Amino acid sequence: MNKLVAGNWKMHGLSADLSEVRAIAEQSRRYPAVDVALCVPAILIERAVRTAPGFAIGAQDVHQAPSGAHTGSVSAQMLRDAGARLTIVGHSERREFQRESDADVKAKAAAALGAGLDVILCVGESLKVRESGRAVETVVAQLDASLPVTVEGEAWLAIAYEPIWAIGTGKVPTNAEIGEMHAAIRARLVERFGPPGQAVRIVYGGSVKASNAAEIFGVADVDGALVGGASLKAADFIPIVAAAAVEGDAPIA
Ligand code: 13P
Repeated sequence: MNKLVAGNWKMHGLSADLSEVRAIAEQSRRYPAVDVALCVPAILIERAVRTAPGFAIGAQDVHQAPSGAHTGSVSAQMLRDAGARLTIVGHSERREFQRESDADVKAKAAAALGAGLDVILCVGESLKVRESGRAVETVVAQLDASLPVTVEGEAWLAIAYEPIWAIGTGKVPTNAEIGEMHAAIRARLVERFGPPGQAVRIVYGGSVKASNAAEIFGVADVDGALVGGASLKAADFIPIVAAAAVEGDAPIA
């Protein structure tokens, strides 16, 4: 399967940054064996789509209800209407600062997939949990409670393993730690969904940069990356896409 390399711009991006969206979209075309996407602030989605026609633009969150009295929120149908193809759900920053529960994340994932939006569902442990030696059981439990009931629709689901202590810190788990976690996630996906669970991509996120991407992509069951800081500029992001392409087709000259 193609690797997935998605950028999460978080709360970054003004009109002036659309030139980076364009550059990333254009340069990504050299790597057709990699699925590249940018998840931008909701207010920027429609302009990003216009700026980069055909390129996958996504959101960073979605409300679980189709419409209604939810001041400040955006539905899956609205995101699709704006041209978004995918959305992140359950990012640790939302789980922490917006107090989103596993049940919320599950409902959001189901609503997005049901509306035809592809989903990147995030899970990950805190440093305290990692140091206690309970990272795998904690993340698998979080995954179990956050997964939608089915993945058998038009839209795809991917899981992002993002250890909270690795986000924006420059710290990265060892290859063995990443491999152990991705294998546990894969096992649970297959247990839950049967053979379709094999096709769910599991991407790693947390301080992915051009300098460490190739090594991370070489770990078994790592099907791509969710990239924060290094996705804001084409010059930082495209080398990560290029690293993901190494195991796929040769780049187009
Ligand atoms: P950084 O790549 O900036 O560590 O962020 C990772 C992340 O949270 C992506 O969703």
